[in-house]
Amino acid sequence: MPAIVIVGAQWGDEGKGKIVDLLAEHAGLVVRYGGGPNAGHTLVIGDERLVLRLVPSGVLHPHTTPLLGHGMVINLGSLLEELDALDKRGIDATRRLIIAEQAHVILPHHILLDGLRESAATGTKLGTTRRGVGPCYEDKTGRRGVRVGDLRHPEQLRMRVREALANATAMIESLGGTVPDAAAVLEELLVLAPRIVPMLGDVPARIEAALRKGERVMLEGAQGTMLDIDHGTYPYVTSSSATAGGACTGAGVGPTRIDRVLGITKAYTTRVGEGPFPTELHDADGERLRTIGHEYGSVTGRPRRTGWLDLPALRHARRVNGLDALTMTKLDVLRGFDTIPVCVAYETPDGRSDDAPPTSLAGVTPIYERRPGWSEDISGCRTLASLPRNVRAYLEFVEERTELSVDLVSVGPRREETIVVRDSWIRGERAG
Ligand code: GDP
Ligand code: IMO
Ligand code: MG
Repeated sequence: MPAIVIVGAQWGDEGKGKIVDLLAEHAGLVVRYGGGPNAGHTLVIGDERLVLRLVPSGVLHPHTTPLLGHGMVINLGSLLEELDALDKRGIDATRRLIIAEQAHVILPHHILLDGLRESAATGTKLGTTRRGVGPCYEDKTGRRGVRVGDLRHPEQLRMRVREALANATAMIESLGGTVPDAAAVLEELLVLAPRIVPMLGDVPARIEAALRKGERVMLEGAQGTMLDIDHGTYPYVTSSSATAGGACTGAGVGPTRIDRVLGITKAYTTRVGEGPFPTELHDADGERLRTIGHEYGSVTGRPRRTGWLDLPALRHARRVNGLDALTMTKLDVLRGFDTIPVCVAYETPDGRSDDAPPTSLAGVTPIYERRPGWSEDISGCRTLASLPRNVRAYLEFVEERTELSVDLVSVGPRREETIVVRDSWIRGERAG
């Protein structure tokens, strides 16, 4: 059984959670490889809606082992709250979860700095989730971060906390904030340590062992390609490697062990926070997508910006992730439009471009082709053949222009509201 990567092909919130939950039925391990509580992955099971921020979306299947890779940044208090909430629902996550020792810890000064910068009168406002994710990665690459494994060694932990705070002091004060008290920060971490330390483990070794046993390993992306620190619309991005390559570094699995990469895209586009978004709508159509698609951020509740599908952006995602196929979600939301514009290329200052690099997205205008819409409710459809002709034509158009097959089609938030076009993504032996 191979390792597969599930990655967001747009600006996040593509429905990764729903798809990972669906595909995890036959998985042994489900690993988050990057990001932190900036993610919100929604699962709808029956009438229940569950939003996961740190715990991998395969957790609902009792036979899976959820892992948090060292590419993540973890707010330990939030993690324990999430685990407690799962345990209360009868999902025994605490005893199964494994956390990489090298994952970084989000500290109070990270959250403080994130908020101060976002609220500052000067500087680029990014519209972050204010969860301290960016500042935590800054301390990581600055080599002064606190790692979860440091909880094992209180003396070392104390030194690391002091060093990180000393470094942040001038910045916090210049923005008018009050530096958190090092002793209080340390005390809080030491209170959490007895619950966290037993969950620490060697994530790369667990993945290797699972692959050797023939178990399926799923690597669950957070955020999306266009929010990737290198491949996204910089500086309006998150601070981690959200693309498929991030799975290798963030989970500790070599590229030769990854078998396939599945990109998740909505049937249209959304974005939360600031930054370029060529196909964004500011009219009644955009409002309609927001209302029918319930496009409000699952972390911050902010209204998501909405727009039409952007094929140049998807082709960029195909390239930088090495996508093997697409899953298209929320196709049900497009019901009721007479025609559906799809962006096929950009008009740039240098002329028409089929594949503008994301750094230049700020100055581009989309070139649309209009596809015929449909009025039928497709949420009950479970086969391609049962879809109205114009829906199939929409899918075929996307396949042709992205040179990717759409292997799964999601027509509602529930696990079962899915058309499995190619079941090789689902098939597999259950972990024994
Ligand atoms: P993620 O961050 O990629 O896991 O996506 P989110 O959970 O943040 O946002 C996706 C939202 O769309 C969630 O509220 C899902 O329940 C919902 N959703 C997923 N797939 C579908 C679908 O096919 N149709 C509809 N109507 N909703 C969907
Ligand atoms: P999931 O995993 C959508 C966005 C924020 C902001 C930018 C930087 O649910 O798809 P950050 O707090 O990461 O420093 O914010 O990135 N962002 C997301 N947008 N879905 C996400 O995660 C996101 N995680 C971060 O809105 O624009
Ligand atoms: Mg989300």
